[in-house]
Amino acid sequence: RPRVLSGIQPTADSFHLGNYLGAVGHWVALQDTYDAFYCVVDLHAITAGHDPRMLAQRSRVAAAQLLAVGLDPERCTLFVQSQVPEHAQLAWVLGCITGFGEAGRMTQFKDKSQRQGNERASVGLFTYPILQAADILLYQADAVPVGEDQRQHLELSRDLAQRFNTLFGPTFTVPEAHIVKDTAKITDLQDPTAKMSKSSSSPAGIVLLLEDAARSAKKIRSAVTDTGQEIVFDAQQKPGVSNLLTIYSALSGRSIDDLVAAYAGKGYGDLKKDLGEVVREFVAPIQDRTRGYLADPAQLDRLLVTGAQKARAVAGPTLRAVYERVGFFPPV
Ligand code: TYM
Repeated sequence: RPRVLSGIQPTADSFHLGNYLGAVGHWVALQDTYDAFYCVVDLHAITAGHDPRMLAQRSRVAAAQLLAVGLDPERCTLFVQSQVPEHAQLAWVLGCITGFGEAGRMTQFKDKSQRQGNERASVGLFTYPILQAADILLYQADAVPVGEDQRQHLELSRDLAQRFNTLFGPTFTVPEAHIVKDTAKITDLQDPTAKMSKSSSSPAGIVLLLEDAARSAKKIRSAVTDTGQEIVFDAQQKPGVSNLLTIYSALSGRSIDDLVAAYAGKGYGDLKKDLGEVVREFVAPIQDRTRGYLADPAQLDRLLVTGAQKARAVAGPTLRAVYERVGFFPPV
């Protein structure tokens, strides 16, 4: 079976609809056709400063949400990145074949380091995409399901795989990005030209899976919409309404055309009110199940240890091959 790998940061208290619709929702579907590896990337989560008292719990909340939306530890390998030391080990080697200029061209680094003030941005933030490449290449992943914002990082992963193979002999599968166009960029409710983002959107611009659904409904009611009154899908001219239609369609399973037809002659207010209801129905069982997993943290931690063991069984041999090719002693 072909393999997929993807990861998500545990930085936030809750995933938002962009994370779910752009990536995690697809992970669930891919479990059945792929040998799937999904990882809570806590090593990535310390690149921009963090609270050590919160980190492990955030990883648990992240894992609980992933289980709650439908990842099944019987059908996929779910683990926490820091429990698989091979990620950091491979990242070092890949860092040594990455150009300084090449890493400096990553737009996410440029954006985030600018926001933090360039002097304060960490070297870890700079090498973040190299660690991401290690995550992917360790598992010989064929496909990587992510949102549009990860496209450039995926290109880097491909370049590093090819470069390593050329320099040291065939070792890595060159991964393909798996980006589902319709939901690849969910936008900020308050600024429908920007992506919905935990780090840069205002709280009113993002819908969290674990927040009170009444709060989500309120944010949706106050979403910035476009001039005119007609409910049509036009991402260029009507980015606000189009974003609401995208979310509505993805959560309800109804096609955009069907929705447009159903709302002919109705106003933005009707659409927003109904979408608030759709979100409420969608998040209610997810919130219940998340609470259920978090009620037994010892069991959750055990499940993650089992996941890490399964992950290491694949990552270990890859790292061993890498060590041999580059001339290190074998890992012990
Ligand atoms: P993170 O945690 O920032 O985001 C997790 C996933 O959510 C997607 N996403 C979105 N998709 C659509 N619309 C949005 N507004 C939106 N916001 C976020 C992201 O594209 C991502 O797929 N660097 C990765 C984490 C990572 C990773 C990896 C991914 C680490 N190692 C290996 C794949 C493979 C990230 O940004 O996660």
